[in-house]
Amino acid sequence: MKRTTNDHGIDRRGFLECMAWAGTGMAWSISAGIASSRAFGQNMAGHAKGQFSFVQISDSHIGFNKPANPDVNATLQATVDKINALPQQPDFIIHTGDLSHLAKPGEFDTMDEILKGCRQKQVFYVPGEHDTSADDGKLYMERYGKNAKGKGWYSFDHKGAHFVGLVNSAALEGLGKLGAEQLEWLQADLKARGSSTPVVVFAHIPLWTVYQDWGWGTQDGEQALGYLKRFGSVTVLNGHIHQVMQKVEGNVTFHTAMSTAFPQPGPGKAPSPGPMKVPAEKLRSTLGITDVQFVARNHALAVVDSTLDPQGL
Ligand SMILES: [Fe+2]
Ligand SMILES: [Fe+2]
Repeated sequence: MKRTTNDHGIDRRGFLECMAWAGTGMAWSISAGIASSRAFGQNMAGHAKGQFSFVQISDSHIGFNKPANPDVNATLQATVDKINALPQQPDFIIHTGDLSHLAKPGEFDTMDEILKGCRQKQVFYVPGEHDTSADDGKLYMERYGKNAKGKGWYSFDHKGAHFVGLVNSAALEGLGKLGAEQLEWLQADLKARGSSTPVVVFAHIPLWTVYQDWGWGTQDGEQALGYLKRFGSVTVLNGHIHQVMQKVEGNVTFHTAMSTAFPQPGPGKAPSPGPMKVPAEKLRSTLGITDVQFVARNHALAVVDSTLDPQGL
């Protein structure tokens, strides 16, 4: 299996090659900062004691209706069907933002209605810039941020793992920003946890700089990552760029998810980011979900991406 690293230090091509090789997807087992890959499906048959899984979905953009995907409701519905068909139902679902395209009440209504079809009803959200730019996130907070702090950040514990939802969807100077208030909260939140606690951080815009020219990064992300350094297992899940990218740095695994609505070009592969039209029959192979399997015994997380295309890649 050939691995390549592109100019930005991101092993996207190698990752996609791995996915193609595996047929339906690729699992990365993360243990003590060492990543090893294995084919999707292996050792995934059941949840032993101390194991659980959750699913990440992202960038539903309900309300979008341009040629890149004229029916984003249908692909979100296909996403729900895919989650419902998973052999092991997730303990919950995480949506990493851009729920809507223009933050209109009807768009949020439609998204809620479709996600109600999930067998698993518990969904944790963080906002994307499409959910907040119209009204500074007011409607988003009313609907999804009731128990959150600030602009929608929060944390929770689940079966020995600590989950942190961060908000970095305010784009300043082209990059996302967490801001001093949120960083202070994060530092205090993490202080109370032992270094052996597995931590999963989720936010809309990548916490590391994927591609500065397109604003695909978080300008004060380094500070947040500094607070996370002492933990033995950290998984950072993001959306926004509508494609899978993965990077491992020390004990931190960074991973971005596909969109459920439309793909975007690879970094620098087009004059600007935005919806990318692909042949209609290819669309669903560019959309999908991320299934994260958690093994409490050795604090390993396996991150598996799979597309909405029933034929595989
Ligand atoms: Fe998006
Ligand atoms: Fe976004």
